[in-house]
Amino acid sequence: MNIFRTICGVICLSLSVLHTAAAPPGWKLVWSDEFNYKGLPDPTKWNYDGGGNGWGNQELEYYTREDKKNAWVKDGFLYITARKEAREGRQYTSARLVTKGKGDWRYGRIEVRAKLPAGKGMWPAIWMLPTDWKYGEWPASGEVDIMENVGFMPDSVFGSIHTKKFNHIIHTQATKGFYIKDPYADFHVYAVEWSRKEISFFVDGQSYLTFHNSGKGFEEWPFDQRFHLLLNVAVGGGWGGAKGMDDSIFPRSMVVDYVRVYQQEDVESKVDELLQKMTLEEKVGQMNQYNDDLNPTGPVTYANDNKAQQIREGRVGSMLNVMGVKNTRRLQEEAMRSRLKIPLLFGQDVIHGYRVTFPIPLAEAASWDTAAIRISARVAATEAAASGIHWTFAPMVDIARDPRWGRVMEGAGEDPYLGSLIARARVQGFQGNGLGSLDAVMACAKHFAAYGAAIGGRDYNSVDMSLRTLWEIYLPPFKAALDAGAATFMNSFNDLNGVPATGNSYLQRDILKGQWHFSGFVVSDWGSIGEMIPHGYAADSKEAALAAVKAGSDMDMESRCYIDNLAMLVKEGKVPEALVDEAVRRILTKKFELGLFEDPFRYSDEKREAAVQNTAANRAASRQMADKSIVLLKNEGHLLPLSRNIKSIALSGPLMKAKKEMQGFWSFDWGAADQLISPYEGIAGKLGNSTRLLYAKGCGIEDTSRAGFAEAVAVAAQADVVILAVGERQDMSGEAKSRANIHLPGVQEELVKAVQATGKPVIVMVMGGRPLIFNWTADHVPGILFTWWLGSEAGHAMADVIFGDYNPSGKLPISFPREEGQIPVYYNYLSTGRPGKDDSDRFYRTGYIDLLKSPRYAFGFGLSYTDFEYGDLQLSRTEMTGGDSLNVSFTLTNKGKYAGEEVAQLYIRDWVAQPLRPVKELKDFVKVRLEPGESRRLSFTIDKNKLSFYDQQLELITQPGQFELMIGAASNDIRLHGTFLLKN
Ligand code: NOJ
Repeated sequence: MNIFRTICGVICLSLSVLHTAAAPPGWKLVWSDEFNYKGLPDPTKWNYDGGGNGWGNQELEYYTREDKKNAWVKDGFLYITARKEAREGRQYTSARLVTKGKGDWRYGRIEVRAKLPAGKGMWPAIWMLPTDWKYGEWPASGEVDIMENVGFMPDSVFGSIHTKKFNHIIHTQATKGFYIKDPYADFHVYAVEWSRKEISFFVDGQSYLTFHNSGKGFEEWPFDQRFHLLLNVAVGGGWGGAKGMDDSIFPRSMVVDYVRVYQQEDVESKVDELLQKMTLEEKVGQMNQYNDDLNPTGPVTYANDNKAQQIREGRVGSMLNVMGVKNTRRLQEEAMRSRLKIPLLFGQDVIHGYRVTFPIPLAEAASWDTAAIRISARVAATEAAASGIHWTFAPMVDIARDPRWGRVMEGAGEDPYLGSLIARARVQGFQGNGLGSLDAVMACAKHFAAYGAAIGGRDYNSVDMSLRTLWEIYLPPFKAALDAGAATFMNSFNDLNGVPATGNSYLQRDILKGQWHFSGFVVSDWGSIGEMIPHGYAADSKEAALAAVKAGSDMDMESRCYIDNLAMLVKEGKVPEALVDEAVRRILTKKFELGLFEDPFRYSDEKREAAVQNTAANRAASRQMADKSIVLLKNEGHLLPLSRNIKSIALSGPLMKAKKEMQGFWSFDWGAADQLISPYEGIAGKLGNSTRLLYAKGCGIEDTSRAGFAEAVAVAAQADVVILAVGERQDMSGEAKSRANIHLPGVQEELVKAVQATGKPVIVMVMGGRPLIFNWTADHVPGILFTWWLGSEAGHAMADVIFGDYNPSGKLPISFPREEGQIPVYYNYLSTGRPGKDDSDRFYRTGYIDLLKSPRYAFGFGLSYTDFEYGDLQLSRTEMTGGDSLNVSFTLTNKGKYAGEEVAQLYIRDWVAQPLRPVKELKDFVKVRLEPGESRRLSFTIDKNKLSFYDQQLELITQPGQFELMIGAASNDIRLHGTFLLKN
């Protein structure tokens, strides 16, 4: 599927008058109306639809006439207004415009930016109807409803498809409602995109429904043929003959900002044409990716073998770790000297920022703020794309329940729901307005799959898990990334139940490319094809290449198994050339979509590179993200926030003056130009001359010596308050950075003890790339902030929180254990047959005799400077069937002195189920800001989707029975309980 997105919300609004219809590369604008024709709809583009020709529902009639003024154009908008018409005891009201003449486009995209009319019983809709459409019957070759907003579900839009075989039952199955808050309060972009393989529906760039050509019950493909396009913008009356509509709902008008039709350049035939010209060796070359020797991100085994020469010979399809316009241009020039001049793809691990570093992904996840996370990815993409990079190896969407695993820093934590929303936000952020936009990079959902469950938390280790756990916990964020349009996937180093992911057909062919219809390409992880030899899965590189290509790995990152063996395997008849063609087609398609065949140097503009990187706006975005990522773990006696008038502060700890450490693992060294803000600088920057700052480092990160303690204690003794910055070194979490001991390293906690012994109020900021253990600190120190690694603006953000310029709002996206022996510890566990009432109930109960079983800090936990009260829970019903939805509402009140944001979390429990369900599952959350004393009514909707789970056959099912719903401030801080019954 080829998608380009339209930025929604604020940006759409601000562009509402100045909109332009420039088509992204790979797409042509073939028809549009921006509604600039004065007064009336442009008569060259639209027909008024006269009455008397009811369609779809014979009883409905449509009236739009010039003389009746049901449609007019003003200030660049089309207003189309329903008119009251009482007939046979019903309120009929409608207006309709149809495009004049019929379009003749094969595959493409229609976008309509519109604001819907408020009120029940209205039926605005935008339809696409084919050649043989006639009033009064279902069109023989189908109909696509780009958007319908029906009265009985006012906050949902429906995309649906009808074919001639569709009676109403099938039609219902092929319809999906998408919930949008207030569709009539704002403009939204409704879009449909159709290709040979599928039709997808979007609201504001977010895909909510895709029909696949080969999908179940959808054998009849309505538009896999040339067809005429007819746009129909209507505001209809009472839904299909509904009686007794309230008069007061009329008239209302739908406002349309534009209608645009894009046609995709026929990439498929261009790819086919190119493929015809390619030799087998050139095809295999496209499947080969090399590292640039200067900046390796893995073990280099083949350095200095004249890659430029190999590029000229057409033996390389992509390079990784080549950064900067100059370097990428230099290598692209080599590619332009190859026989077929196929441009190279440049990939890079742009994980949490590029030029400006953002908080590590786990820290960002603590914000629970998907809009901010999308912006973070957007900024990273903008900077990277201006540096010649086409492709980021992100987001890492691996669920991780084991903090020993060093890569826990790179994901969104332990929860599949939160992880899925964040996966989607990151993909949307990276890919922006779609491939081909100059500020977008291809996303890569990785590592497919289950890499986060490495046994013992040891990187690269085996994974052994039930398929149910795979589907329920580990796959959802991948599916979310795919649904958001992720252009590529990366497979993983681990084996899954005995089969290396790289050679795993179940993962790559059956699930990803089969069931999920992924149309992008899969890159191996670094050397992972060749690593099937030490795995013991393949005897040599030829066998490894065979296993990988059969399993669906399209591109070989740095193992050379493909370039060395694949052509031979084809010639020997062991690999059908069609398999190679399939992989190459996927790769070339992305190169076309990026616009690289039009201009291979379009991402290589030094001026843009200089202009868009490290800007004040990018740094501000990083600081905001960092503010939101900090988690307040303890604040005894309201020690925080500190007053700026404080007389003296002692600053200590190995990370207090650290700069580079603030960046975290996947970051780039930009040298002196870097401007990284240390905690010390951030704090100092907030204070005037009247505050005395004292500093003593105390110890190094991994020191065993206590020699510096005395000085730290001495400065603490002179100060009114002490702030310590402790934690991990930048390279203690990340790839190949698993730790068996995740306590604060070295003698740092002893330093905390020594300073605390002065009796001064102590605040500890803990930094790192994973949950850490610091029990003594947790028990004794009054103020604790978990600040992760926050990026370029780290010190500023810490100071924002310390002095109350930002009220902390982060919540842990992963449980913090009390000791390593508890690992894995996570909130969505199964009850067991001997659960115990609480931590203290241990007599023949599940648990430990020497430790509590609960985590030190639970998933979802994080404090604020203010207090939030939850009250007045109401359920719209206490019984529901699978077709119903249940509205849960409650009041959230800010009872404290500070304005603040709260993440209110909804969990459910299915009390009796076969197979078993977890004691809690996060199903929704909302982050809201309230002023002191302010109350807000909030609500969640529970429907069948939220209650379904996989059975032993991996079918999604629901089971009737009693459910508990829990709303609260953390997974272990539930404030409101309710129950409801799901009936058959
Ligand atoms: C190995 C890592 O597992 C992967 O995430 C990364 O993208 C590649 N190396 C390339 O650096």
